[in-house]
Amino acid sequence: MAGVGLVHQGRTRQYEVKVTAYVLFSCFVAAMGGLLFGYDLGITGGVTSMDPFLIKFFPSVYKQMKLEKAHENGPYCRFNNELLTLFTSSLYLAALVASLFASNTTRILGRKTSMFLGGLFFLVGALLNGFAVNVAMLIIGRLLLGFGVGYSNQSVPVYLSEMAPPNIRGALNMGFQMMITIGIFFANLINYLTAAQENGWRYSLGMGAVPALLLCIASLFLGDTPNSMIERGEYGRAKIILHKIRGTQDVDDEFQDLIDVIEVARQVAHPWRNITQPKYRPQLTLCSFIPFFQQLTGINVIMFYAPVLFQSLGFGDDASLMSAVIAVAVNVMATMVSILSVDKFGRRVLFLEGGTQMLLCQVAVGTLIALKFGVKGEGSFTKSEADLLLLFICLFVAAFAWSWGPLSWLVPSEICPLEVRSAGQSINVAVNMLFTFGIAQVFLPMLCYLKFGLFFFFAGFLVMMTIFVALLLPETKNVPIEEMNSVWNSHWFWTKFVPQEVVSDHSSSNCKPSP
Ligand code: BGC
Repeated sequence: MAGVGLVHQGRTRQYEVKVTAYVLFSCFVAAMGGLLFGYDLGITGGVTSMDPFLIKFFPSVYKQMKLEKAHENGPYCRFNNELLTLFTSSLYLAALVASLFASNTTRILGRKTSMFLGGLFFLVGALLNGFAVNVAMLIIGRLLLGFGVGYSNQSVPVYLSEMAPPNIRGALNMGFQMMITIGIFFANLINYLTAAQENGWRYSLGMGAVPALLLCIASLFLGDTPNSMIERGEYGRAKIILHKIRGTQDVDDEFQDLIDVIEVARQVAHPWRNITQPKYRPQLTLCSFIPFFQQLTGINVIMFYAPVLFQSLGFGDDASLMSAVIAVAVNVMATMVSILSVDKFGRRVLFLEGGTQMLLCQVAVGTLIALKFGVKGEGSFTKSEADLLLLFICLFVAAFAWSWGPLSWLVPSEICPLEVRSAGQSINVAVNMLFTFGIAQVFLPMLCYLKFGLFFFFAGFLVMMTIFVALLLPETKNVPIEEMNSVWNSHWFWTKFVPQEVVSDHSSSNCKPSP
């Protein structure tokens, strides 16, 4: 099956691009890498609040929590335990380290190999956790899960961006975020089903093996991207894959253009050193700031702590759980909006709309809590006030799901030229993991000290990131991935950093990025 043919202009020539069943299938299968990250994001919070799990591995934490519950020390300062948050966040530190190694694996051995390793690490980690009999097994398993996330998050977005035809690159890449949200959703569901059982935590942790196994098997059968194959000198196989993904025999021009670009890229022996050169300043800046800002939206306060947050604000146990499930379901559905609109309206519109909507929601949530609980933390929500709070939280999650969520994986994977693509994506993952770790670590103490001000703290960052996008992010919709340099040349600020000869190289491009 092949979809409508579209003509994209390359460096000097035009080439035909169709949407084939092969490319759709490959991208669907690869996107399953997102399930690993999502499953972990969604499962851990629930497991670490299961009594049998705490009694077995963290008895002191269990005792302290019971004591805190008895003391009821207000809505802002409950459930604050550093040991447990450190255990939870250790995965993100492991993922950070792994993503740096994954850069070389992905470049030298290919995207497929990194995806396979990601699945394998996660598989072993999930099994160790599911069968854990002591804390050591639990921690080693958790580190392996982190390696799995590091490897798959580093390689899958790059794979998707390279395989996809330019006109639907956004939608196909966002399959990754879609799988993250589905992973979060299923993890919450599984926790809900296992929570009441004595060994429920074993099922919750062990089931992570399922998406990991899927990714391992899938990556064995997937073809690698033509870009990566050419980079590794496998010209013959690269051409066969290009035929398959473009749905036409007429790929000679595109193939030659890929070789031209990649030959230059292959001269670069040290991508890490290279990416710090002034001519890569736009990529380095965006690959560092986008994941930083993504975490500073405050999304993981909802993803990790929604039930705790709702409980703290006086919702009953069931209402808290139900509200959290509603929020993660909204997360899945709203991601669809971005998939359907990103290649039509572009990245900037979604970033700007989503950022503004999240800003308004954070201010609304902060104000509602301030009015009700003030600084002292006394009061409680009526049913309609609680509904209003949940509505704002869902509007916040929806806005994230169609903007900073998927775009933070898409944009860094598509803006880097091949010679620094793996390094750029590793920086993206590493910064993302560092701040996922940071937010998980400091959210509860910050809520305790900043109180409702915490929501205004995130609102402040939302103002900054929206201005950042407005000024510094060029539109990349529809631009072929190996032609991306043209966008910097027409950008008011980044043009200062991009060498002049690149301007003439691409001056014939029909892709008109803005602003
Ligand atoms: C973020 C995660 C977040 C998830 C929510 C991802 O893009 O990196 O930190 O929990 O989206 O859907």
